[in-house]
Amino acid sequence: MKGIILHGGHGTRLRPLTHTGPKQLLPIANKPMSQYCLDAIAETGITEIAIIVGGIGANKVREFYGDGSNFGVKITYIEQDEPRGIAHAIRLCKNFVDNQKFLVFLGDNIIQKSITTFTETFKNSNYDATVLLCEVDNPSRFGIADVENEKITKITEKPKNPTSNLAVTGIYFLTPRIFEIIDELKPSWRNELEITDALDNLLKINNNISYEKITDYWKDTGTPDDILHANGEIINKHPKFQSQHITDNSLDTKNLKIINNVILGTNCELGQNVTIQGPVIIGNNCKILEKSTIGPNTSIGDNSIISASLIQNSIIMQNCKINSTTEIKDSIIANNSEIKDGSTTEKVFLLGEGSKISL
Ligand code: DAU
Repeated sequence: MKGIILHGGHGTRLRPLTHTGPKQLLPIANKPMSQYCLDAIAETGITEIAIIVGGIGANKVREFYGDGSNFGVKITYIEQDEPRGIAHAIRLCKNFVDNQKFLVFLGDNIIQKSITTFTETFKNSNYDATVLLCEVDNPSRFGIADVENEKITKITEKPKNPTSNLAVTGIYFLTPRIFEIIDELKPSWRNELEITDALDNLLKINNNISYEKITDYWKDTGTPDDILHANGEIINKHPKFQSQHITDNSLDTKNLKIINNVILGTNCELGQNVTIQGPVIIGNNCKILEKSTIGPNTSIGDNSIISASLIQNSIIMQNCKINSTTEIKDSIIANNSEIKDGSTTEKVFLLGEGSKISL
């Protein structure tokens, strides 16, 4: 089997974070979100992966993943000129797929559990497609599957009045059969070739699509809140991080407190009266100083320096400097940012297009 990761799109809902790179490279627990997809595919034994790239971020994706050898896979990059839909992106991979079965992973979908068993089951089946479904509270945000007697009867993209709460997640097991269907597709109301329309058409032709349910964590990281939620969840529960937690370890020296599921990088300095309340991940070469309180649900990227600050439920990326009495909560702060106190009457800002601050 082969693998495909979708790494294109405009990421408009995540501006300004996506002005300088694709959303799928934004870090969740200090690791680009699409790397979770790549690792999950590689874990199934699939070694040939195509990454769909497009827009301003394409070069950053190439720079990060290279030829794939650092990640134990072989990567082929396929350019998509415009985000014309998930089915359009998949169609671009027809030659790459070379008549094999394949797995598509949307680069902004995060799951915790392995997909190896699903992959094996699909490989040994005669299904034209297998989709992974997950119960959600807000079904009109997703592709939705109606299921009767354990068979999918209908798949609809973002229905206004959903008849089911089963979202079709962005992990699709497919056969080359899908290419014939995509060739007949018409663009949807959002002017995209929808994978959900292709799947629904395939269903109408021969009713040969199966499904599996994801019962643990799955997140489509479409909004800043989704990203923050995934960040805390992944630090706390992702199997990759489980062995790295420093747990319930109250240290007496310097009155430093480390509480619950904290992951600390190498060469870090933790100062006097600092409290780190997990789940928290701190990258390499960081300094957390002078009565700072970090966490819960927070990640601090490599080489960042935090002094006398309170940071909760936030993502601070790499090379940031924060020294402020203003509490930082529910925030995403991109690489190389600096936040410090000005005078009480005057604040100085240098904010990128689309920035959001609450004072
Ligand atoms: O996350 C699951 C949902 O993903 C499904 O339930 C929906 O059925 C499916 O349509 C999709 O919905 P979204 O509206 O969330 O898709 P989005 O436009 O965010 O694109 C998903 C990913 O694919 C994202 O990483 C960007 C990438 N992409 C998207 C398009 C439209 C591309 O690489 N090329 C594209 O043309």
